[in-house]
Amino acid sequence: MEFKTILLAPGPVKVLPEILQAQACEMITHRSGEFSALYKDLVERLRVYFQSEEAYVLTGSGAVGLETLIVNLCLPNEKIICFPNGEFGDKFVETAQIYTDVVSHKLDGGQALSLGQKNNDKIWHVESANGWNLERAKKAIDESKAQVLGMVYNETSYGVRNDIQEICKYAKSKGMLVIIDGISAWPGTSFNFNDFAVDGFVTGSQKGIGAPPGMALIGLSKAAVERYSKRDKIPSYCFDLKRHQKRYQKDHQTPNTPAVSLFWALQKAFDILDKNGGLQSCVKRHVEFSEYVRKRVVELGFKLIAESGFESNTVTGFYADSAERAKEIKDRLAKEYKIKIVGSRGAFKDNGLRIAHMGNVTKEELDACLNAISKIIGK
Ligand SMILES: Cc1ncc(COP(=O)(O)O)c(C=O)c1O
Repeated sequence: MEFKTILLAPGPVKVLPEILQAQACEMITHRSGEFSALYKDLVERLRVYFQSEEAYVLTGSGAVGLETLIVNLCLPNEKIICFPNGEFGDKFVETAQIYTDVVSHKLDGGQALSLGQKNNDKIWHVESANGWNLERAKKAIDESKAQVLGMVYNETSYGVRNDIQEICKYAKSKGMLVIIDGISAWPGTSFNFNDFAVDGFVTGSQKGIGAPPGMALIGLSKAAVERYSKRDKIPSYCFDLKRHQKRYQKDHQTPNTPAVSLFWALQKAFDILDKNGGLQSCVKRHVEFSEYVRKRVVELGFKLIAESGFESNTVTGFYADSAERAKEIKDRLAKEYKIKIVGSRGAFKDNGLRIAHMGNVTKEELDACLNAISKIIGK
């Protein structure tokens, strides 16, 4: 199969032909031994990848998985402390506000945008989009009196990787439950429940695992399972994990009709992850590609959006010196080279660009994009 486009957007990402083909099996009923075997395989493999107590594959986008974690693990009379630093952090806060009390701390940077004038050209004075680490979050955690901490691992809107490990461990030492939106982080960024002291984790099928969109992969720690299992009533029918747990324990099925075809595709995507050396190799490849893209982008004269030390393994945000330039690059890549990249958000909405290097992307595809940008800007 020949791809018509080189898709370097941060999800949906390119889906390999063998994964696409896996969806095309003859349909089966989800109330069958065949489906039970498929779902059990996915769940058990996910539990091993995550090192989690429980795991589920939910039919729906990443946000469905995040809302499922929040509705099951956050109580209305409690508080969650959140550390947004971009659009998806803000969405986490918005979702949590529906179910619980939220105290939210923002980082400066990635927000402030001022326009200046130089030689009659508009120029941007932008700061980088900053990342969270324990040093920056500690005081807020200490003062919060929150029972839960929630944040985004990889802020896709800017390509910022928050240093969640130390934050999670510290929150855990304070007796908090930790929910992480790892939608665009996994499996290209190192993570497991044990080393990261996390209780609820979600990723999306259309991101680094390289499957089609439409599934949320969630994991839960022992403490998280205890928490939702003890609750009398979860304020949701579809997202109630007790229903998922009950049905899984009964016959390895889902409480409602799942996206069966997508589940086959996910199984193939897991096979490819394993065949290519598993999680460790996957992270290594993502680190190498991200370093390579950053190096080339800087050589081309762009500035990186992410604060130094917080660069994402899966998506690189950078900015041009004008909105017109950024638009020209994006448009000409699409039209002349059939390469799709996207813009950025917030303060970098106009002049920012993002190249995703997640999933089964190849070095050749990244080179095609970077070489094309080089030609477009005449460098
Ligand atoms: C970090 C992060 N969180 C949440 C989402 C929302 O995921 P979805 O669009 O699959 O619901 C995205 C999507 O890009 C994301 O990157």
